[in-house]
Amino acid sequence: MKRQWWHDKVAYQIYPKSFYDSNGDGIGDIPGIIEKLDYLKDLGVDIIWLSPVYRSPLADQGYDISDYYEIDPRFGTMEDMDRLLREAKKRDLYIVMDLVVNHCSDEHEWFKKACADPEGEYGQYFYLRKLEKAQAPVPGSGLETEYSVCSPDGYVLPCNWRSYFGGPVWEKLPGHEDWFYLHVFHRKQPDLNWENPKVREEIYTMINWWLDKGLAGFRIDAIINIKKALPFRSYAPDRADGLCTIGRMLQEASGVGEFLGEMRDRTFKPHQAFTVGEVFNEKAEELPAFIGDNGYFSSMFDFSETVWGSSPAGWHKNKGITPDDYRQCLFDTQKKVADIGFISNIIENHDEPRGVSRYIPPQDMQSMDEEMRLTAKKALAAVYFFVKGLPWIYQGQEIGMENYPLQSIDEVDDIASLDAWKVMRRQGVSEQDALRAIERNGRDNARTPFQWSAAHAAGFTTGRPWLQVNPNFTKINLEQQVKDPASLFRFYRDLIALRKNPQYSETLLYGSFEPYLADESCILSYLRRSSGQTILVLSNYGKETRTLPLPAKAKKILLDNCPGRDLPVTDRKITLSGYRTVVMELSGGRFF
Ligand code: NOJ
Repeated sequence: MKRQWWHDKVAYQIYPKSFYDSNGDGIGDIPGIIEKLDYLKDLGVDIIWLSPVYRSPLADQGYDISDYYEIDPRFGTMEDMDRLLREAKKRDLYIVMDLVVNHCSDEHEWFKKACADPEGEYGQYFYLRKLEKAQAPVPGSGLETEYSVCSPDGYVLPCNWRSYFGGPVWEKLPGHEDWFYLHVFHRKQPDLNWENPKVREEIYTMINWWLDKGLAGFRIDAIINIKKALPFRSYAPDRADGLCTIGRMLQEASGVGEFLGEMRDRTFKPHQAFTVGEVFNEKAEELPAFIGDNGYFSSMFDFSETVWGSSPAGWHKNKGITPDDYRQCLFDTQKKVADIGFISNIIENHDEPRGVSRYIPPQDMQSMDEEMRLTAKKALAAVYFFVKGLPWIYQGQEIGMENYPLQSIDEVDDIASLDAWKVMRRQGVSEQDALRAIERNGRDNARTPFQWSAAHAAGFTTGRPWLQVNPNFTKINLEQQVKDPASLFRFYRDLIALRKNPQYSETLLYGSFEPYLADESCILSYLRRSSGQTILVLSNYGKETRTLPLPAKAKKILLDNCPGRDLPVTDRKITLSGYRTVVMELSGGRFF
């Protein structure tokens, strides 16, 4: 693996709408981000990914772009964006934007032109089809297809794929009776036709325009979906709606690499840009092509623990993840990626529940006292932070923000949660159970405003926040944690400082990864080893005290999530109270 300029960095995701509101309209904005750059610098992060701030109707909170060259006025102006780039540069911070090019908005001018003339040039920018109404199939006429589905007014759809946000992927083209367009996400997100070289050119020009402005790179949204299995066809339905998941089509689509390689060569590579792909369901043999030395992307997210336990039947059937399952996911990824490239490690993002509410068993969270809960949050932070790869922090993670306690479906904004609600209710799931499932899985959990202080609206806005603030903000907020030397925020700062400490960074960045005590239930532990140095991360990821063997004599404790408390350690053994976690340098010799 070639060493890259970004390997020793720590990355941070901002969800601008919920980060910091500078003008009191209840919506976070770019000037608000600029005001907080010193905070981010102090935390120790280097790369900052902004979820979309382009012009957008915000049907999917900005993942529906109506102008790639404009900033949405709710987030600020292009001058604000330029100022952000300048201010970031002054502080050696790198700004990365979201690249959303599987689809645009139905309010983009390309789509409006396609609606005006589906058979003209812009019709080719999308997947449009002129359809016919179903007739009673005459056997052998070719009209009868095994799994065909119709629009509500009887047009036979080209395929039965279910959009990620529910319902068929085909929608009537505005202003037309018999033309339909494809959207694998929301109906306000029509898919761009990557098979059309003109579309690809438009996209590359736009990417280069941004990189020339001084952007460090992109997080690349939903990118695997750009390649469709064509011609369109239906697959066996997997729910009573007669539709099938898009994942089924993606298994059959081949050739996405040609598009990705072209995009890399025409844009990212000449700019030495940093890119991180949102890639689900990749096959192990594809990893070198994705994140190897000449990969399509610099890095990609590890979603193995994110998707663990999710059920196609609905959110109420999703399984919670145990510490041992979580360990398995982490270790499997480490084994798979090995030295191929640098994976990006997360415990949450704007599409996921809060990491502390998912990866610390909820029954533990409920039954522990405040102090142990904080210890557990630190344990999770330390465990994911030092596995090999690039650590990412999602806004609010560094202060331990938790899932939102949902009272009613009326509080929900997220379109994925609203669809999940319908799916569950249709299956007869009770309101209470459906609400609890959304509370565990919904995307709003991560989107509630950042908890800056105990003041009005958690200090996020002087106005009325666009999404409700988590009521725990009086207890969990940055202002209080900055003052408290034992806070989670301070611990995150220590984690970052340790990864960057020149005495240990070679091992923590490039050292090998070796699971340790992988058969011990609720022990999350591994070794990072380089020539001449071994670092052990050892977490008692459960409530009971455990005495554990050491693989070699401890040389130095580098980090302890319960500093100042007695730590019974002999040459060969260590005793850790519930959730206690230590990072230690080991001496050269090994006991076994
Ligand atoms: C993935 C993004 O992270 C998510 O928020 C969005 O809804 C979809 N892609 C569609 O762009």
